Amino acid sequence: MTADPFQAMAQALAGTFVVFDGPDGAGKSTQLGLLAEKLESAGVTICRLRDPGGTAIGDRVREILLDRAHEHMSVECEMLLYMASRAQLAYEFIRPALARGECVLCDRFISSTVAYQGAGGADVQTIRQVGHTAVGDAWPDLTVILDVDSAEGLSRIDSAPDRIESKALDFHQRVRELFLQQAADEPDTFIVVPTTGTVERTHGQIVQALAAWLDSRMD
Ligand code: TMP
Repeated sequence: MTADPFQAMAQALAGTFVVFDGPDGAGKSTQLGLLAEKLESAGVTICRLRDPGGTAIGDRVREILLDRAHEHMSVECEMLLYMASRAQLAYEFIRPALARGECVLCDRFISSTVAYQGAGGADVQTIRQVGHTAVGDAWPDLTVILDVDSAEGLSRIDSAPDRIESKALDFHQRVRELFLQQAADEPDTFIVVPTTGTVERTHGQIVQALAAWLDSRMD
C-alpha cells in the first residue's frame, strides 16, 4: 500500500463506476472535472462521461429531451428517452471501460431519472426496472449526490435554462427530496456532499467521503 492517501484512494477507484448527480446548479460537472484531473495525475485511467448524451445517438436524444419546443412531452416518453440514451452509453463506453479496468466517472445517471421523472409523476419502481433493462450490469458502484438548496442551485445557472431547468421551483424541490431519499434508502452506494462551501472545500469533502466509502467496502 502506498504511503500517499490520495494515491491509495486513486488506485482503489480503478475499475469502479462512480456517478456524480444532484439538483441543477450543484456544480457536478466542475467537481467531476476536478476529481478526474487529480485521479489522472495519480496515474488512473478515467473514462469521463455525461448522461444524457456521450454518444452520437445519445447526443441527438439529449437535444430532443432538452428542447424547449417539447413542452408537451409526456413523463413516460421522457423516462424512456433518458433510458435509451443511457443504454447506448452503457453499450459503447461504460461496460468496455470497466472491462479495461478504468475508473468510469459519469455526470448523472439513473438516479437523475428517479429524481426528475419521479418528481414529474413516474413510478419510481418502474423507473428502476426499466433502468435495469437499459444498462444491465453497468450499474454504478457509487453515486455521489452533490446537494444544494433548489432556489440557490437554480440561481447559479448562468446559461439559458433548458426545458427541465425551466420547470417551477416546487418541481425542483421534489427533485432534491428524491435525490436525498435515494441516498437515505441506499447508504452503502450513495453519499451526499453539501455544496455550500468553496469549490476547493467541496472537492476536499468529496475526496474524504470517497476514501471513507472505499474503506467501508474493505470491511
Ligand atoms: P445536465 O444537468 O446534465 O445538463 O442535465 C440536463 C437536464 O436533464 C437537467 O435539468 C436534468 C435533466 N435530467 C432528467 O430530467 N432526467 C435524467 O434522467 C437526466 C440524466 C437528466
